[in-house]
Amino acid sequence: MTEKVIPIRVEQSAPVVDPAWDGRPPRDVRARPLRDLRISVTDRCNFRCVYCMPREVFGADYAFLPHAAILSFEEIARVARIFVGLGVRKIRLTGGEPLVRKDVHKLIALLAPLGTDLTLTTNGSALARLAPSLKDAGLQRITVSLDSLDDATFRRMNDADVPVERVLKGIEAAAAAGLAPLKINMVVKRGTNDHQIVDMARHWRGTGHVVRFIEYMDVGSTNGWRMDDVVPSADVVRRIDEQFPLEPAEASHPGEVAERWRYRDGGGEIGVISSVTQAFCRDCNRMRLSTEGALFTCLFATEGHDLKSLLRGGASDEAIRDRIAAVWSRREDGYSEIRTAETARLRKVEMSYIGG
Ligand code: GTP
Ligand code: 5AD
Ligand code: SF4
Ligand code: SF4
Repeated sequence: MTEKVIPIRVEQSAPVVDPAWDGRPPRDVRARPLRDLRISVTDRCNFRCVYCMPREVFGADYAFLPHAAILSFEEIARVARIFVGLGVRKIRLTGGEPLVRKDVHKLIALLAPLGTDLTLTTNGSALARLAPSLKDAGLQRITVSLDSLDDATFRRMNDADVPVERVLKGIEAAAAAGLAPLKINMVVKRGTNDHQIVDMARHWRGTGHVVRFIEYMDVGSTNGWRMDDVVPSADVVRRIDEQFPLEPAEASHPGEVAERWRYRDGGGEIGVISSVTQAFCRDCNRMRLSTEGALFTCLFATEGHDLKSLLRGGASDEAIRDRIAAVWSRREDGYSEIRTAETARLRKVEMSYIGG
């Protein structure tokens, strides 16, 4: 059996309330508030994107988490409610691929009454079928990953022979269901799909959907990341601007991951996500909850913090809240500010385990 690349070490310490915590929404060591909760609902995916779940590692005999190890919808909803009490205002469901988890619309129905911004990141392959039920359950908007419009390039990148047409149909269905504003994420990898940058911008201009170009990152330790494979966002903006003039747009909220640019002719906007060339850790307000109930304070964490044993051990909401607040108030993360070729080789948590 293939060696399991995760889990990374999960700290099992008892809940400790930080003595400095006064009961108000916590701030971390760098005074950053907790606003955004990203929940991974499964570590499985039907794609094998070369930059995320390379087939050599995530092969037929890869040991994914057994069902008993993963949080139930009720457990997730309970944790999410506690997070809202600590200041969270945005919840994003991620995976792996969140839509491969059975009946995920039932989880959305449990989360919708919390009143946060509620969204989901998907590879889009099941969206044509599921978009209406997601909307009906209370999902507000959606982000679809799409790395190329060219079928051959797309299939090479997803390594699962999924045709681009299927994702395009999914995007259409999501828009028809009213899951808007719809965002489209393209991870740009030099020599693989960077020839598609301008085509992608051209295709979605004027549709109201926002394409975001993501710098290829060294998440996890299996994708063989090299700095040479990164196309800096400044180049992306320059290449698009040459064809369709752009101007910078204001951030829509503090801590926004994407830098926004709008077409000067009113054709809409694009975003660039530049974790490698322009770190945005300074305002990072995101906590991640893994499929099996561990907290991760950074996408590049090498260690998680167990929450499941509290959840399954009969702990009160207050004890769980105190545990989360303690984890957040001790947080110092800023990985993208210190990334080097050496840190890129560290054994970090995999993106498919923790979500994007
Ligand atoms: P909205 O602005 O609410 O639509 O969400 P978002 O910008 O958080 O978008 P999304 O969740 O789609 O994130 C886009 C991509 O940015 C992810 O897939 C990651 O590749 C990257 N990303 C998101 N959060 C972080 C983060 O905290 N650190 C780093 N380095 N990258 C991140
Ligand atoms: N670098 C940048 N983005 C990545 N994603 C997955 N792996 C990487 C990586 N190595 C993105 C996906 C998707 C989201 C879940 O994260 O394209 O949009
Ligand atoms: Fe699956 Fe998304 Fe990872 Fe691709 S990037 S393998 S679609 S989880
Ligand atoms: Fe936040 Fe870590 Fe990403 Fe920096 S690298 S923005 S601290 S998740």
